[in-house]
Amino acid sequence: MTSPSPIIHIDPARSISRVDPRIYSGFTEHMGRCIYGGIFEPENPNSLADPNTGFRKDVLSVLKELNVPIFRYPGGNFVSSYRWQDGIGPKHLRPRRPELAWLTEESNQFGTDEFMQFCKEMNAEPYICLNMGTGTLEDALAWLEYCNSSANTYYANLRRENGHPEPYKVKYWSLGNEVWGPWQVGQMESQDYAKKAFQWAKALKLLDPSIQLISCGETGYSDWDRVTLKKLVPVVDYHSIHIYTVSEGNHAVNVMGPAAAEKALEISKSLIDLAKIESGLDKQVTICFDEWNVWDPVRAPGEKGAEEHYDLSDALAVASWLNVFVRKADIVKIACIAQSVNVISPIITSPKGLFKQTTFYPLKLFATLMQGTSLNVHVGSPSHTGKTVPDWVEKLEKNAGGDEKLTKYIDVSAVLNDSKDEVRLAIVNRHATEGYTIPIRFGPACDVSGGTVQVYEVWSADLKDNNGWDGERVQIVEKQLPWSGEYSVKQHSFQLLVFKVELQ
Ligand code: AHR
Repeated sequence: MTSPSPIIHIDPARSISRVDPRIYSGFTEHMGRCIYGGIFEPENPNSLADPNTGFRKDVLSVLKELNVPIFRYPGGNFVSSYRWQDGIGPKHLRPRRPELAWLTEESNQFGTDEFMQFCKEMNAEPYICLNMGTGTLEDALAWLEYCNSSANTYYANLRRENGHPEPYKVKYWSLGNEVWGPWQVGQMESQDYAKKAFQWAKALKLLDPSIQLISCGETGYSDWDRVTLKKLVPVVDYHSIHIYTVSEGNHAVNVMGPAAAEKALEISKSLIDLAKIESGLDKQVTICFDEWNVWDPVRAPGEKGAEEHYDLSDALAVASWLNVFVRKADIVKIACIAQSVNVISPIITSPKGLFKQTTFYPLKLFATLMQGTSLNVHVGSPSHTGKTVPDWVEKLEKNAGGDEKLTKYIDVSAVLNDSKDEVRLAIVNRHATEGYTIPIRFGPACDVSGGTVQVYEVWSADLKDNNGWDGERVQIVEKQLPWSGEYSVKQHSFQLLVFKVELQ
């Protein structure tokens, strides 16, 4: 362990960028029990479903606590063999199909119109991922026409016939999902994908110039990202990247994993800059991190529905993930936790009800309070040395020569709220066994007023503590404390501190 003593310096004058509320977005894939048995269960035996829509009332009510601004749909891997036309029109006529991503069957009882209704009820914007596996450009154009067109044309009229006179105005459309992956139906080489996506983008924007397009990236730090950005920066608005972090049963590996996402965002930002330099273009392209979470596919395989049962260590990893997004507010404008219900999710349902996983609570605190302007915080902290996944998280910093480690035990992000009268500080103590007393220093033009700090803490005595049908051991504990200039964090804890401030 190396050891500067923990200390936090915040100067509200040193801002990074506005935190885009869309970083708290969600994802509902036709996978496992996310849609069927998750948000949609018309036949629920305990009357938990809305009789008109079939939506689980309890699930929607709890999801609303997370203020989800966008839902991505319908996959994920699922989309690469999905015929969207199967999921519209009278339900008894919708065909049941083999499903190739998770090797199940798709009943098509939930489709585009049900998803739009779901988004409406959630007061969220829809985001559609296009099928670039078995799907053609013609299918994609038809889907866009069905959703967005107000013309007197075939698919716009079909939407009207299906009872939806007004266009849905779907703004976000992505060009395929993980097209680089060997598991993907329609896997492609980067050059081939880039050429095809370029043509799709041109045609889609001809049909509806108001849409925003998202290119299919990989991790943000791969050659796929470089090649596809070079070709697609002129025609897209966002570049999508995906990363899942794992614990491998090791708490330090779990909580340090999101450091890889921080590097990924730095590298992808540079790759976007490089593509702009090479093309001479002056336009904004930012990152849509549309799949992220803690997921160990060995522990919770996709083919079995990927129902992770998260513990406190996972909640701290999720808090560190969210710290990354707030710190990188300049480049990441949309992020979708994968996924929203049951599948690697903060919410688990049964026909009888639901429970909130440990990871629900940091997500709720961030989505509610970490809004405004991201601040540049200086953190002194001892750092973890030892195993990380990927291993370069530790190697890069060891060889970099500076003292800005990626594996600091004290992991922090901060915002100034929009009314500029609160500084909010999200602090994860990632150390498994050490608590710390941390002096928190504010810049010269910022006074903490009121003499108190409001604290929201997520903690439990055992890192393996989790929530379940027998109760919630990990929740938010709220307290107001006198402010003395320093704050004591427990071992393996997350806390969100809210300071009333006066800026000069
Ligand atoms: O979110 C689960 C799966 O993980 C998605 O379908 C896929 O895009 C990713 O590999």
